[in-house]
Amino acid sequence: MTPRGVRMDAPAKVNLTLHVGARRADGYHELETLFQGVDLSDVVEVRREGAGIELTSTGEDAGPSEQNLALRAARAYLDAAGMSGDGAPGIRIRLEKQIPVAAGLGGGSSDAAATLKALDRLFEGAVGAGALMAIAARLGSDVPFFLMPLPLGLGRGRGEVLEPVDPLPALPGVVVLPGVRMSTAEAYGALDRLRAARPSATPPRLRAPRDWGEVASGAHNDFEGVVASAHPEVRDALSDLRATRPLVGMLSGSGASCFALYGNDNEADGASAALGSEGGRRTVRMRTLTAWPEPADL
Ligand code: C5P
Repeated sequence: MTPRGVRMDAPAKVNLTLHVGARRADGYHELETLFQGVDLSDVVEVRREGAGIELTSTGEDAGPSEQNLALRAARAYLDAAGMSGDGAPGIRIRLEKQIPVAAGLGGGSSDAAATLKALDRLFEGAVGAGALMAIAARLGSDVPFFLMPLPLGLGRGRGEVLEPVDPLPALPGVVVLPGVRMSTAEAYGALDRLRAARPSATPPRLRAPRDWGEVASGAHNDFEGVVASAHPEVRDALSDLRATRPLVGMLSGSGASCFALYGNDNEADGASAALGSEGGRRTVRMRTLTAWPEPADL
């Protein structure tokens, strides 16, 4: 029987590498990035109910629901499935937001992808896999990654052209939220200005790491310098993270969140306690994913 609703965890992502290229004619930058899913998650519930599409949200402030990416995902899904207009099914979306917003963790993108997956389950694959990816790419550069079969992938183009990478064993880690926000567009603008003034060498690129040792030596984020210069809180978070001697300690996406990964739980627990949550800072424990969470029918 077709379920009336679906409940899913919508995990966050971090970027193990992020190389930003030139600005394109459409205003976006060419990039190459290794996305890694982590278990810090929102909960997304999607039900067939009532009329129209409505979204409610609890937890972290996700802003006005009309602009919410999950709501826009549902609209795009019904359009693509030929189910909009008169007689369109009613959709209720409920978000429990735990992933900090505008932090470089892909929370809004993951909610949108979870909504697409849930709808495709509710409507039994009414939109094919290719069309679903196309909807995801239109919604945002990070959305397609969350529709990949596995939670490690290399993104090119503006992040939406994806190649799967074999997942690496799960590692424990921490996310540090330095208490400042960095808008994605602002971070790209700052990077462009810096490069116009002072071109920098491109570091070697890590594309398909076979173990965490390769990640440790190839991890790199082009935004780190500009975001740390704009926000002393980020600079401090990065230097405190590195003082805990992680395998990897870096900025995620265009910030302002930073993360670190460790060889075992004891080290991650110790680092989490040392980094603490005082002032505007918040430290959250997490773990890298080797598979996406399974949906549950309601
Ligand atoms: O695709 P998304 O909505 O996440 O992008 C937000 C903003 O970030 C874009 O409007 C653009 O200014 C910038 N961006 C970019 N190049 C990318 C991705 C995002 O310049 N590859």
